Amino acid sequence: MSDSYSLLILPGDGIGPEVMAEVVKIVDWFGANRGMSFDVSHDLVGGSAYDRHGVPLADETMARAQAVDAVLLGAVGGPKYDDLDFSVKPERGLLRLRKEMDLFANLRPAQCFDALADFSSLKREVVAGLDILIVRELTSGVYFGEPRGIHADDNGDNEGGRVGINTQRYTSGEIRRVARAAFELAMRRGNKVCSMEKANVMESGILWREEVQWVHDNEYPDVELSHMYADNGAMQLVRNPRQFDVIVTDNLFGDILSDAAAMLTGSLGMLPSASLGAPMANGRPKALYEPVHGSAPDIAGQGKANPIACILSFAMALRYSFDQGEAAAELERAVERVLADGVRTADLMGPEGGTPVSTSQMGDRIVAALAAG
Ligand code: IPM
Ligand code: MG
Repeated sequence: MSDSYSLLILPGDGIGPEVMAEVVKIVDWFGANRGMSFDVSHDLVGGSAYDRHGVPLADETMARAQAVDAVLLGAVGGPKYDDLDFSVKPERGLLRLRKEMDLFANLRPAQCFDALADFSSLKREVVAGLDILIVRELTSGVYFGEPRGIHADDNGDNEGGRVGINTQRYTSGEIRRVARAAFELAMRRGNKVCSMEKANVMESGILWREEVQWVHDNEYPDVELSHMYADNGAMQLVRNPRQFDVIVTDNLFGDILSDAAAMLTGSLGMLPSASLGAPMANGRPKALYEPVHGSAPDIAGQGKANPIACILSFAMALRYSFDQGEAAAELERAVERVLADGVRTADLMGPEGGTPVSTSQMGDRIVAALAAG
């Protein structure tokens, strides 16, 4: 029996289209060789959507994203769009997708590939074998809280006469649902969750801590749970990252901590992510997959970008959207083998050398490794 999956590909800006072209090769390979059939459509997001439609995400694209099994996104943004009004900046397209699809659980694994352990800015002994998963709340908190804005504030002696406002706001329901996602994932890994907030200075942090504890005590008492202030968490991540299994945290802390965790692994060009929401009618979760790296406008169009983060994001789609864990592992092993063979895009080229390859050659090597089995 053939399994059929619908995919919406949104390459976006900068290196997004280049790395996504390599993902398409992988999708085609699985289609041709593993009895899966992919119904793939393409559309615009970010600056490229703005150039065409005057908005970073057209309503038709939003509707298509809601209808497919999974969205694959490249990256958005670039200097060309820096002066645009905030409401139409490329990033707003991505935030609209996350919000309207209600993708509340953002999974950001930070795994250190053995072949790359010397790339980390930390010592090999600290990062070798690292395998942590950050679960970042993605649809609430200070990114979306009201009130927000920049207003005149000329009462009193405020030099400049303006105030900028954002609101950190979490409901207990929002905290409980992302905590459940973290506990579920931990049970399939090392069975440990560390929750991070700033309960020492923020009421929303106190609520966060209490609700995560509540979900633990009532629903997941067998998972080991600890709590940490987020600043200490940042410090512990660079001091001894292997103490962590799953980290669950809010939208803003998760944004920052996941970049720090990413760098532990040596290259931002390696890290995938999955953003998951509630199950749809077909039982599959609403889902968007994207690399953690950005649009890297400085190297766009030069064939230098590393497509692995985007390719591993597709592996996450196989695992979390299509329940094809074996195919996902097969793809991850192919990537690992290519790296072990010393095949390197520019970002992975270290003093010990290796075979330098372009973006598209890296894609071809991974396809060849899949074919070689
Ligand atoms: C990320 C990015 C985004 C975020 C930007 C591009 C809006 O930094 O996915 O981590 O802040 O969430
Ligand atoms: Mg970020």
